[in-house]
Amino acid sequence: MRAYGFKSNGGPEVLEEIQVPTPRPAPGQVLIEVAYAGVNFAEVQHRRGEFGEPDGPGGYDVPGLEVSGTVAALGSGATGPAVGEQVAAYLPAFGGYAEFAVVDTDFVRPVGVLPLAHAAGVPCVYPTAYGVLTEAGRLHEGDTVLIHAAAGGVGSAAARIARARGAARVFGTVGSATKTQLAAELGYDALFVREDFEDAVREATAGRGVDLVLDPVGGPVRHAGLRVLAPFGRVVTYGDLGRDADWTADVWDLWKNNKTIAGYNIGDVARRSPATIGEHLSRALSALASGELPYTPPTVVASSDVVEVHRRHEAGRTHGKTVLAFTGHGAG
Ligand SMILES: NC(=O)c1ccc[n+]([C@@H]2O[C@H](COP(=O)([O-])OP(=O)(O)OC[C@H]3O[C@@H](n4cnc5c(N)ncnc54)[C@H](OP(=O)(O)O)[C@@H]3O)[C@@H](O)[C@H]2O)c1
Repeated sequence: MRAYGFKSNGGPEVLEEIQVPTPRPAPGQVLIEVAYAGVNFAEVQHRRGEFGEPDGPGGYDVPGLEVSGTVAALGSGATGPAVGEQVAAYLPAFGGYAEFAVVDTDFVRPVGVLPLAHAAGVPCVYPTAYGVLTEAGRLHEGDTVLIHAAAGGVGSAAARIARARGAARVFGTVGSATKTQLAAELGYDALFVREDFEDAVREATAGRGVDLVLDPVGGPVRHAGLRVLAPFGRVVTYGDLGRDADWTADVWDLWKNNKTIAGYNIGDVARRSPATIGEHLSRALSALASGELPYTPPTVVASSDVVEVHRRHEAGRTHGKTVLAFTGHGAG
């Protein structure tokens, strides 16, 4: 089958079109013929080497954490999805940038009436957004929420979910002034340039601060997030886009000022509570299909354009979701 992978870590150009054996579903797994593969920042990190060196078939790793497509075969004992059914799946072991992918049924759900292109951007992003907001972040009705990297895949999904689950106000930060104009389109009350968001947040909240900060950036941005927390406010850390390894928290600051720091990692949830991923994925697919969660259609590009798509993600030049189209579904 055709796939896109890399055999050494590096820049976007290490991604190549390759031929690898079509995987076979193990017991409890399904084989999915991929229609679309969602592109996530985590795949940039995978390619750069932040998850280790490639060690897959032929020395290649095939990235890709989320897909939509059609169930092509079932491994022994696999229950739930049926052959021929259109599904969306989170792939904890990667492999989505390919014509076929295998995954445990725990992480597969029917797309229902949601178009396959839309569904491809859901299985990693929405469980993450639900997990960060509601499990780690303990979102309460009436909360004011601040979302860093607000225009990205997870950020833009989290804004919609926060609103649907009763947040009173939803603010976000972005890297450039031009992106602040996306606020209404992405469902924010306002977007601030990240460089000087602290003053903007204080002004927008009349000095009170926010109840919940979603922070995949880290470094000085995380310290600033802690400074703009209202009493009992929470910062949820779920990424390190700023690549600032020296970050440490001052426990006395948390204690003396009624602050909380929480963490979220979808890989750990997949290992230790797989049902949570399935539940969040089902909830997202049905809320998107019913219109309870507004949805901005993804940017659909040919899978052969994967190198350029990675360049754009790495440079922060995307907003919302981008999905790669595979065989039989247009551009691939
Ligand atoms: N912990 C988990 O389980 C989990 C799961 C999924 C994703 N994540 C994390 O969530 C974050 C967002 O993922 P995503 O797939 O939504 O990303 P995405 O769609 O590629 O968007 C990422 C955005 O982050 C912003 N950004 C901030 N600092 C950046 C930097 N130093 N380099 C590049 N971009 C930077 C950029 O926009 P602006 O600069 O304009 O804001 C960029 O558009 C990533 O850190 C990812 O690792 C974590």
